[in-house]
Amino acid sequence: MNTVAVVGIQWGDEGKGKVVDLLAADAEIVVRFHGGNNAAHTLVVDGRKLIVRQIPAGVLHPQTVCVIGNGTVVDPLALMGELDNLRSHALLTDPKRLKLSYDAHMVMPYHGAIDRAREARLAKAAIGTTGFGIGPAYEDKAARIGLRLVDLLDFKRLEEKLKRNLADKNAYLKAVLKAPPVNGRQLIEQLRIARKRLLPYLCDTALYLDEAIRAGRKVLFEGAHGTMLDIDHGTYPFVTSSSCLASALFAGAGVAPDRLRAVLGISKAYTTRVGGGPFPTEIKTKLGQRLREEGEEFGAATGRPRRIGWFDAVLARHSARLNGTWGLALTKLDVLSGIDPLKIAVAYEYRGQRYEQMPPGRVLLDRMRPVYEELPGWHESLEHARTLANLPAAARHYLDRIAELTGVPIAMVGTGAARDATIVLRNPFAV
Ligand code: IMP
Repeated sequence: MNTVAVVGIQWGDEGKGKVVDLLAADAEIVVRFHGGNNAAHTLVVDGRKLIVRQIPAGVLHPQTVCVIGNGTVVDPLALMGELDNLRSHALLTDPKRLKLSYDAHMVMPYHGAIDRAREARLAKAAIGTTGFGIGPAYEDKAARIGLRLVDLLDFKRLEEKLKRNLADKNAYLKAVLKAPPVNGRQLIEQLRIARKRLLPYLCDTALYLDEAIRAGRKVLFEGAHGTMLDIDHGTYPFVTSSSCLASALFAGAGVAPDRLRAVLGISKAYTTRVGGGPFPTEIKTKLGQRLREEGEEFGAATGRPRRIGWFDAVLARHSARLNGTWGLALTKLDVLSGIDPLKIAVAYEYRGQRYEQMPPGRVLLDRMRPVYEELPGWHESLEHARTLANLPAAARHYLDRIAELTGVPIAMVGTGAARDATIVLRNPFAV
């Protein structure tokens, strides 16, 4: 199959970066189609950690072309920083390797200022956003006042639009949010620099992708965040402001639905989330703390500690169905070594009623009590396991049960942090 999408089926941070990195070895083009620098992937290059936010995680493979599609929101100032950082690792030095959609909307400093000021006002009721202005940037897109990368072509007109927006945003920041305004003059100078730097990358990416797919080139679509953060199907309002499903790529990359061949769902062997919102299988005991430390569960985008929970099969079924998941990549199985017994939520219970599926609108999720099934754990390290046969019987049983409960076959299993610590059962590009 030559077109594959990788999507998170939990609340983001499922370990998509590593799976994308593995699949990108076979890909020619890697595409981001939604979100912005609220996503973050930690990559390890020559033993050094490197975080990419807007650039696809497939960037490590020198043969890939990285595409940032129209459905994303691009922070031009942060993107320049990311490019500098990559360059210091001698990555992405060839400008032909990066293509930015003319249609992608730009995240401006006033978006970040509004995002952070609103969160501060919400205090305890805050969403727990990354504070990078993603929500306010998508708001402007829907309100038809957003600035797109294509606007960099005609700087005079861009300045006019920007001045109009700044007048409104600064009035709102000052009068309603009681926050300092954004310096317009400084912003215009920064954008002038960004223009020079980014113009060479601008491209009609939808057309480029169509031609590439017709020519049979291998394209990997890299989902950001996770299905439970999807603006329609997630735990609204504790979600991000874009659609996080595989189907978002049709609009967000401008690729027709019949072009996509397979969707690989990525899930941790347990569950995590950052930010606020319901989390039925959250572990609030010391065990959660232990898993957080062993799994190094601190957000790559913001460094915040992640909340930890058991694997939730109700959530996984919901996400797998919405994405049309062909296979499941289960990451970080090694982190569960030494925990016995293990638990999986197979259903929820609320006021004596059993729920096999998500409750309507997911609104009562914070009141749902998980119905757990206990499974035997294992004590061996999985670090060197490279085939299913290398895994302890209890670990194989755990995988089988997840496949059964979700109805999706396991395609890959993560057994450690190293790049090659993955058991590959089905590689979609090889089918
Ligand atoms: P925003 O996307 O910055 O508006 O944040 C909205 C919610 O999505 C918050 O709970 C964030 O923590 C969460 N979020 C956004 N992107 C990611 C991600 O890539 N991984 C995990 N959580 C994320």
